Amino acid sequence: MKRAPQPSSPIRIASLVPLEPAARAEFARRFVIEDVDAATLGLLRPDVLLLSPPVRVDAAFLLSLPASVGALATYSVGLDHIDLDAVRAQGLPLFNTPGVLANAVADQAMLLLLAATRRMTEATALLRENRWTDLWSSQTLGIELAGKTLGIYGLGDIGRRVAQRARAFGMTLVYHNRGRTTDEAGATFIADAKDFLASADMLLLAAPSTSQTRNFLDRDRLAMARDGLIVVNIGRGDLIDDDALLEALDSGKVRAAGLDVFRNEPRIDRRFLSRPNVVATPHIGSATEEARRGMATVLCEAIEAWRRGERPANRVV
Ligand code: GLV
Repeated sequence: MKRAPQPSSPIRIASLVPLEPAARAEFARRFVIEDVDAATLGLLRPDVLLLSPPVRVDAAFLLSLPASVGALATYSVGLDHIDLDAVRAQGLPLFNTPGVLANAVADQAMLLLLAATRRMTEATALLRENRWTDLWSSQTLGIELAGKTLGIYGLGDIGRRVAQRARAFGMTLVYHNRGRTTDEAGATFIADAKDFLASADMLLLAAPSTSQTRNFLDRDRLAMARDGLIVVNIGRGDLIDDDALLEALDSGKVRAAGLDVFRNEPRIDRRFLSRPNVVATPHIGSATEEARRGMATVLCEAIEAWRRGERPANRVV
């Protein structure tokens, strides 16, 4: 079991994260923070290592850390880049950033839902490429959210905030999780994946990446879905089988997709970018001033609580 540093000494943080200035200032106000990379990390004696995806934390990575590292903080809510058993085996506390980014990601989900249904990629291309000929713009007729059913795969903190927003747009909500949740945010639980997919006009993937959720949207599941499905992914790229979704986008089985997350970020499957019925953003779900400030604050508070010998609520391991 690693020890927290003595209360009298300033906590030293080594950061592998390219923090925004305001977030970095928050850490610098409370701690000594130094930016590092894989090569320079070994030269320092930090108490805490700050990291984020795509840094992969596995047993080998943990063994390569300076012995002074007593805790890990990930600047993310997602934990799929971290081998939690390996962290546990090293006796290192790990903190993450739940809650504070949910509004930002839910806004992004609505943006993608609206952009996909209103054919934003095609509409902006008409202007950029000087192909706008029809002044009443029947060139890009879309569909509306009101009266449609949104299926939420993964009704957690983010899924619930999307549910609130989607209700205000006049949508009906269903959700599919491992089990029923206590706060359903007005959504109806559907236990069977097939029934869930058959009931949704639009599908929001908001689950974390785990061995149970990976490849959720594969060929078989797409076949269970309604024709002309709208797909939005703000969870993780590997919830989707890319080849299956591309085929469905080309055949019209999926009318349009809004994607903020991809496999192999940032070297994503560029076939998505050539599809007119895909609107894509580069994993910017939590990229708001408010969310990033909140992420810095909850990690700083967790590190201070750890130093006082307490167990903060956002301690994962
Ligand atoms: C973003 O994807 C996060 O996990 O915080």
